[in-house]
Amino acid sequence: MSKREAYASIRAQLGSLLEDRPGFLSAMATATALLKENLDHVFWVGFYLPAGDGSLVVGPYQGPLASLRLAPGKGVCGAAASSRSTIVVPDVHAFPGHIACDPRSRSEICVPVVAAGRLRAVLDVDSAEPAAFDESDREGLEALAQALATVP
Ligand code: SME
Repeated sequence: MSKREAYASIRAQLGSLLEDRPGFLSAMATATALLKENLDHVFWVGFYLPAGDGSLVVGPYQGPLASLRLAPGKGVCGAAASSRSTIVVPDVHAFPGHIACDPRSRSEICVPVVAAGRLRAVLDVDSAEPAAFDESDREGLEALAQALATVP
């Protein structure tokens, strides 16, 4: 199965699971499981949620232990949160301010989850392979982020 096909299948599964109206927390948890189990290049996947002081606090995730809190604007996640745009990092060692949760992580993509102009979360995905994320990941993850953004 190609990555595009895998993302389409994940999107379809998430869509049907969301018909049960589980709420945002369960929807995020379910998305992490679908991504981790269906994509071989995913080493860590999870959400960071905006806290009142501008930092990001870890939400549901799958993979090794991750940083609990990311300082405001810091790291790939902070950059995605403040720019409200997807950031693809082919080589985490070359990204200024990258926060290494696990030394095995080599590349990363972070997608903001935005509803009506409000940042609800960022969806962060790490790979142990360099340059693991391409346009198919961007499109697939942005579609998931869009589906999650309006979950109550
Ligand atoms: N690398 C991220 C921190 C989160 S971990 O990858 C799970 C960053 O630089 O924001």
